[in-house]
Amino acid sequence: MMERDLPEGLSADRLPEHVAFIMDGNGRWAKKRVMNRVKGHEKGAGAVRQVVETCTKFGIPYLTLYAFSTENWQRPKKEVDALMGLLTRFLRNERKKLVKNGVRLTAIGEIDRLPEEVRHELDLTMEETRSNARLTLCLALSYGSRSEMVAMVQKIAEGVKEGRIDAASVDEEMVSQHLFTREIPDPDLVIRTSGEMRLSNFLLWQSAYSEIFFTDTLWPDFTESEFASILKDYQGRERRFGKVLQP
Ligand code: IPE
Ligand code: IPE
Ligand code: MG
Repeated sequence: MMERDLPEGLSADRLPEHVAFIMDGNGRWAKKRVMNRVKGHEKGAGAVRQVVETCTKFGIPYLTLYAFSTENWQRPKKEVDALMGLLTRFLRNERKKLVKNGVRLTAIGEIDRLPEEVRHELDLTMEETRSNARLTLCLALSYGSRSEMVAMVQKIAEGVKEGRIDAASVDEEMVSQHLFTREIPDPDLVIRTSGEMRLSNFLLWQSAYSEIFFTDTLWPDFTESEFASILKDYQGRERRFGKVLQP
């Protein structure tokens, strides 16, 4: 039995197995305070620590965080460098705590596009946390659903060309198995902060039946109590998956 520490009003049996966050609004958080955007990203790292802790506390076994999109490479070099530096430091500083708290780190995205320093810290952290089982924390880095799907089509096409895959046997399960997310379940709940109501190229295949929640809160201001109230909202939703539920 997993140990859980749940707030009032949240029931243990209908918690999502996988929550995915589009962590948005760092720049606006900084702008409101007449600060550099990078300050917003730094503050956002605190909110990351918080949601990771909350998931372990509530007993949610999978958490995906959209940290950097394929489109984010088009931001000014200064900002991209700062984000990569922040990520490097985050992994270095959090590693021990992740190991201790039973968190297993994984990553999805075009990892080879990341700077050597980031890849090094990622590899070390993934290696040191690989046998952890309490929470799988998946970082989406240089991630984009469309590039993920292009890579999937290329891999399957290659298999067909080489005679390993019969074109007629391509099905949804095979497609899922050729995505970066092959080892993690589809998200039950996708949360986007900062008031933007779009998916911005995030888990398009995987979120086909996810519940979606948008909040105006800017990412650096996101708290455990707001997370708990979103989970309560989630527990009140009826997931029908296209069926008619019998009374
Ligand atoms: C989200 O915050 C972090 C990343 C996309 C890396 P933004 O940097 O997009 O913040 P806003 O949307 O400009 O406020
Ligand atoms: C989405 O946020 C990507 C991440 C949170 C990493 P963006 O700020 O990049 O998305 P848009 O530009 O508002 O769609
Ligand atoms: Mg944004």
